[in-house]
Amino acid sequence: MQLDNLTALAAERNDQTILDLFGKDADRAGAFSASTGDLLFDYSKTQIDADIRDALIELCDAAGLAERREAMFSGAKINETEGRAVLHTALRNLDGGPVAVDGLDVMPEVLDTLQRMRVFAEEVRGGAIAGAGGSFTDVVNIGIGGSDLGPVMATHALSPYHDGPRLHYVSNVDGAHIADTLRQLDPTRTLVIVASKTFTTIETMTNARTARAWMVDGGGDPARQFAAVSSAVDKTEAFGIPEDRVFGFADWVGGRYSVWGPVGLPVMIAVGSNAFDAFLRGGQAMDVHFRAANWVENMPVMLALVGIWHRQVLGHTSRAVLPYDQRLLRLPAYFQQLEMESNGKSVAMDGSSLKMPSGPVVWGEPGTNGQHAFYQLIHQGTDVIPCEFMVAAEGHEPELAHHHRLLLANCLAQSEALMCGRSLDEARQRMADKGLQGDELERQARHRVFSGDRPSTTLIYPKLTPFVLGQIIALYEHRVFVEGVLLGINSFDQWGVELGKELATSLGPIVDGEESADEKDGSTAALVAYAMRHRD
Ligand code: F6P
Repeated sequence: MQLDNLTALAAERNDQTILDLFGKDADRAGAFSASTGDLLFDYSKTQIDADIRDALIELCDAAGLAERREAMFSGAKINETEGRAVLHTALRNLDGGPVAVDGLDVMPEVLDTLQRMRVFAEEVRGGAIAGAGGSFTDVVNIGIGGSDLGPVMATHALSPYHDGPRLHYVSNVDGAHIADTLRQLDPTRTLVIVASKTFTTIETMTNARTARAWMVDGGGDPARQFAAVSSAVDKTEAFGIPEDRVFGFADWVGGRYSVWGPVGLPVMIAVGSNAFDAFLRGGQAMDVHFRAANWVENMPVMLALVGIWHRQVLGHTSRAVLPYDQRLLRLPAYFQQLEMESNGKSVAMDGSSLKMPSGPVVWGEPGTNGQHAFYQLIHQGTDVIPCEFMVAAEGHEPELAHHHRLLLANCLAQSEALMCGRSLDEARQRMADKGLQGDELERQARHRVFSGDRPSTTLIYPKLTPFVLGQIIALYEHRVFVEGVLLGINSFDQWGVELGKELATSLGPIVDGEESADEKDGSTAALVAYAMRHRD
């Protein structure tokens, strides 16, 4: 990606503020936004002007984005370091026709598995599939990373539609997680879903064995009360899960892109198959838009280009995702995996070193809570942190519409405050109005200055329905894809997680006291020694 043009434009525009841009064109919100369906993405509160946007858009053609996009949708093996296709889009391709991998249409199997999920989920919900003690009151999903974050996020997001059994998620190998979860449950009326693409992940397999022992001890029946979600169906069988309780998916579904398929089974059990279908249709609608819209009208593309502008051109190291939607409380964590595991890489597809920064740190919390925690730094810290706000036009609680209006007002106030700021003169006037004078007025005023000109975007949607959630998740998936293509990296592998896993395996016997820590570095050995001294 050649950024010289953009870097030059950024330097030329150094003194041009976002407010200057609104001064020149009060209607720029219309021109610097993209919409699809009922979603509106407003990026007018950024320093991007028409020339900058043109230069950003040129990057798409230079990177062959259209060809890469079609390669993904049509099943080419674009995950080159693992030799795999990337086809999570096929999981939501409800009526989009055939998709071939190695010459074979994958859609019959996708739709067949989806239908099996629907039948299973509805039978669990209706009580036809039950545990040793009766119909299921609770479902525990055991998985981590992509086998956890997507369903957790979606379960919270869709809570107004949740009319199935209670759902719990266990991911951490910390025994506290499973102990605190199982303590409240009836082992004879709990369904355990073991979700692991590889079915080898040590955290998941350890938790799954603990859950099975708990169930047996408590009079439950693992043969009736366990199900598995995996692309390694041979391993699920070895674990003892009956074939009819196993929901498989192919290796062309990346873990962090897998919520659309069997990994979404707990969500389907919670909200029912119709609501889950609506979620899939939302994702499919975004796919159709992403494939058809020209670059400037293409929401995922523009979201990605705003990201490139802030990270690779201006050098901002992080971006905050700030949903003003309590039910999206796990969305920032979900996006952390989606974005950082996909684009946190310093080697290009061809093996050369990346010549620009990788993807940014992604973090956030729902508003308004974040306002009372870290927004201080966003407004007055020395680093600029581009903010991505999200908010619904209305909530799900008509009787609490006044809450929602307050929420919306807060969201809009934050992006306005970031852009407009407060000058030293305004701050002085405020202090003078309070009766301060002289040095004290000056000193106090300086603490109350907001530089302003801090960029943000806002994604606004009518209401957080299953369809809208599907649109939002697919929007961000495609944003990550576009950024990855422009960076020239492979967004679909995750070699960076391997070293830690290998070292944890070698440290296991050392921490167990079976092997010596002498071969380890001094710090690691000292920490092991401390842990050994301080345990029973
Ligand atoms: O550690 C990274 C990772 O491989 C993620 O990419 C994945 O989502 C997670 O582990 C869980 O993997 P699995 O579903 O195979 O248990």
